[in-house]
Amino acid sequence: MSRKPRVLFVCLGNICRSPLAEAAFRAEAAKAGLTADADSAGTAAYHVGEPPDRRAIREAARNGVDIAHYRGRQVTAQDFHDFTHVFALDSDNLANLRQVRPTGAPARLSLLLDCVEGREGEAVADPYYGDESGFAVTWSEVSKAARSIVSELSRG
Ligand code: 4NP
Repeated sequence: MSRKPRVLFVCLGNICRSPLAEAAFRAEAAKAGLTADADSAGTAAYHVGEPPDRRAIREAARNGVDIAHYRGRQVTAQDFHDFTHVFALDSDNLANLRQVRPTGAPARLSLLLDCVEGREGEAVADPYYGDESGFAVTWSEVSKAARSIVSELSRG
């Protein structure tokens, strides 16, 4: 039997995009009846131990997911052993993750929007410096990716 999927989403600060990606993935997995673990992390340590940005908490709540208890953490080399899949929210973070990844570690590392037809190679734009409407765009993008990942994982 194949290993239970363990999916990690990684952005820069782990307070805006990757917590929303984790939340969207959890929601889509539950909807599909897929058993999987999920977490998120940042390549930077700026917000370690902090809850997500208030605007991200509100956007997740508008979509039925409570993320107020999530806490920021920095990605580690061990994550590439503990997770089966690591998704970077943009190409800068993907490049940083390639540096962190130990040689031979089993996790598959890829860009999140590579899962979304027509968006391959693109970044989930960082909504941190904009207004709250940017968080709805983020939710829409990470939800599309989450649906695609869940459907792929459900096929086995
Ligand atoms: P995130 O957004 O990477 O989507 O969590 C950011 C959050 C914080 C900062 C940058 C991006 N920051 O510079 O503090």
